[in-house]
Amino acid sequence: MTPQQITLVKRTWALAEPLGDTVTVLFYGRLFELDPALRRLFKKDMQAQGRSLRTMLGVVVNGLDKREKLVESLAASGRRHVNYGVKDQDYDAVRDALLWTLQQGLREVFTADARDAWAAVYRFMADTMNPSAATKSA
Ligand code: HEM
Repeated sequence: MTPQQITLVKRTWALAEPLGDTVTVLFYGRLFELDPALRRLFKKDMQAQGRSLRTMLGVVVNGLDKREKLVESLAASGRRHVNYGVKDQDYDAVRDALLWTLQQGLREVFTADARDAWAAVYRFMADTMNPSAATKSA
């Protein structure tokens, strides 16, 4: 992840974040379209779930310059995800749904470079949350 990519992710997140629940609706709609079986893992109401996801994305995006400080909380969240029943391969579906959502929300602002930058950020998050998923997709 280059400094330019970090800047790009911060800039695009500043535009996507205010879309709020729209991001949630697009994201989960797409995720369950990609893999309907994932729906049963989510027990909470989707608005609350979407807020947690957006909060965590915001924390990660704002912390990208000091990634070592994010490692512990991401790893802990990854362990909780195992208990939610999340499997290694599910990380790919979430990546695809997230990139698709950003594209839908931001349209022409979400350039190929922005997509690559977000893919790099997602890889960092997923690798830290779930090292075995990282080994598998590498
Ligand atoms: C980088 C990737 C991901 C991020 C940033 C993320 C973020 C979060 C956050 C912040 C929570 C709130 C509770 C907690 O932290 O333990 C959560 C819960 C959850 N996540 Fe993720 N997540 C990611 C990947 C995934 C994947 C791949 C799945 C698989 C479908 C998934 C399914 C869930 C489920 C089922 C819950 C609990 C929902 C409930 O209690 O009803 N997440 N996630």
